[in-house]
Amino acid sequence: MKIYRGRLAAVAAIILLIAMAAIALGCQQPETPAAQTPAATARAATSAGPEIQTIEATINSPEKAKAEATSDAIAFAWNLFMFNNWPALTTSKGQPDSRKSFGAPGPVVWQTYKTSQDMYVVSGQPLPWNQGPIVEPPALQSGMIDGKILTDRNGNPVMYEVRLSEDTYNYILGRGLYTQAGQLQLLKGGPPVTFPLPSMEIKAAWRFLGKGDDPTHYFTTKVQDGGVVRILGLSGLHITSKALPQWVWCTFEQIENLQTTGARLLLPIAAAVQQSNKAMQSGFAGTPWAYYQLDGVQTEYVQNPDAAACLRDPKVTCLANTQIETNFQGSSSCITCHSLASIGPNGRRFNLWSFRGGNQQGHMGDPPPLKPDVGLDFVWSMREAH
Ligand code: HEC
Repeated sequence: MKIYRGRLAAVAAIILLIAMAAIALGCQQPETPAAQTPAATARAATSAGPEIQTIEATINSPEKAKAEATSDAIAFAWNLFMFNNWPALTTSKGQPDSRKSFGAPGPVVWQTYKTSQDMYVVSGQPLPWNQGPIVEPPALQSGMIDGKILTDRNGNPVMYEVRLSEDTYNYILGRGLYTQAGQLQLLKGGPPVTFPLPSMEIKAAWRFLGKGDDPTHYFTTKVQDGGVVRILGLSGLHITSKALPQWVWCTFEQIENLQTTGARLLLPIAAAVQQSNKAMQSGFAGTPWAYYQLDGVQTEYVQNPDAAACLRDPKVTCLANTQIETNFQGSSSCITCHSLASIGPNGRRFNLWSFRGGNQQGHMGDPPPLKPDVGLDFVWSMREAH
């Protein structure tokens, strides 16, 4: 049984849920990623084959991952998507099952990652990576980072969870950064916080499926809520990878989110991303993954840190997910906001928000200087440490 912690005072309703079973889908992937279009990868992935090994080879090799993230960030984003949403091995954590194809039932790789609650323990030490259940029950919360709650058309709150891959988890554990006291040590000096490759992190948004929902359009998981089994459908998925020093930022969402949650995507989707969506959705046909789209990938700071520019120009790389950054899409720069992940004297945290003309908005453009605070290598969930 998991107890969910509030993130911010502003975060209201917290619903306790116990995961019972996770149902997932996986894919499979073709040979040389360089010669292979993402769509061909998607098609090959949904039929049986050893293609996951090619994706793994890219994700797990610092050189290949960096090369692809630099030369074709969209293809890299889809590789991250397929790797993390591949059916997981049930014998060890964080590993895709190469005998299964993408879209096959069963928990997916990221559901075997540790949750942020596993990492930022209230007391004692986090368990070693391989201890605890292989499929970690989700630790769900209903508040967004601005303290608001997104409610769907059936009146249910959208729920969120954060997960850490093995490298991310072990790095925080190894450096003792899972407590606030451990993080405060950084103010006294020592090596900077730098996550190793292939560190990855996930932030997922789930909605309770109910009236009017077609579960075949969602990647789903089952949870028990006060004795009742409820089905959650994945509505949004942030994936980050340390392939680049400032990480790679990408976000995916279910394509019917506007109808189901009323949250409209305000930022334009770049033409190349739209093309990749069409191709991948047709490649994933017959699986729930055909109902997801990439909203975009961010690898650089916003060049024109003006919210209005973000809303009309797909080349200005703001990035937001309707399910996660719902109310501040026009000033949502994943990379800038996350560059502020830090700790200051007395455990104070950098303000997530800037106030232009009295309006609360996200920081955009190049990161402001952090000193005397010490940066936490873009990992904001570290503020959850006790
Ligand atoms: C205005 C600030 C802000 C923006 C913009 C933002 N995030 Fe975050 N993000 C956070 C905070 C704070 C957390 C800590 C967990 C929480 O409270 O939900 C977080 C958590 C995460 C996590 C879990 C790992 C971690 O770093 O803690 C991922 C992955 C993530 N965000 C990805 C993204 C992506 C991708 C985007 C852009 C589409 C984005 N974020 C935009 C503030 C932001």
